Amino acid sequence: MQLHLSSWPEVDAYLKRSKAILIPVGSTEQHGPNGLIGTDALCPEIIARRAGDEAGILVGPTFNVGQSQHHMGFAGTITLQPSTMIAAVKDWTDSLRRHGFERLYWLNGHGGNAATLNAAFIEIYHSATFDWAGADRTALRCMLRNWWELPGIGELVRRLFPVGEGSHATPSEVSITRYAFPDAVKDVEMSPRIAPVGPIFDAHDYRRRYPDGRIGSDPSLANAEAGEQLIAAAAKAAISDFKQFEAS
Ligand code: NI
Repeated sequence: MQLHLSSWPEVDAYLKRSKAILIPVGSTEQHGPNGLIGTDALCPEIIARRAGDEAGILVGPTFNVGQSQHHMGFAGTITLQPSTMIAAVKDWTDSLRRHGFERLYWLNGHGGNAATLNAAFIEIYHSATFDWAGADRTALRCMLRNWWELPGIGELVRRLFPVGEGSHATPSEVSITRYAFPDAVKDVEMSPRIAPVGPIFDAHDYRRRYPDGRIGSDPSLANAEAGEQLIAAAAKAAISDFKQFEAS
């Protein structure tokens, strides 16, 4: 069940049986020579929609631009300042809270978002602390889960891609988008086969260290079959993770 494809009476009815919503969050940033710019937003969105369809979970619109300043050396990347993202996450949360949602499960597709999302959650709790009118209300809770850290996914990734997974523009995330958008993800030969590894600072330094955008990965290994397995396993794990959070 997707929020943007629902009517308000349907959302009203959902709220009578659940106060929890799943929101995919990602980024709009380069993903190497063959990865889609939307990879980090698409992966949690694809997994969330599968989970939503299978378990009747309400899935919010994807928060699809995040913390990507280090990728600005590559065409197409869009980034938010941390303060902008914190304010926007808080506004999304306040809006949902106004309707009665009490559990917001953010399924994240971009590691670089984690610190800012956690800071946004502190801003949200900070406001609640100083709102005496809300003293008797059920506490609002936010939860952050990176899709690749869902139970069982790390093991599956290591089995699918024992070499060349790396940490940016990985074959596992490119496989998920390849399964969902088979015509968009192209075959590109990687040179070097495995990308260099190292730290992340600003966008000028990033482009010098990682000339084609990848870090430690060989996304030419990406394939739709692996994507299908990852989506099925991640959706199953996300449902049980969400249900636990919903009941907390
Ligand atoms: Ni990514």
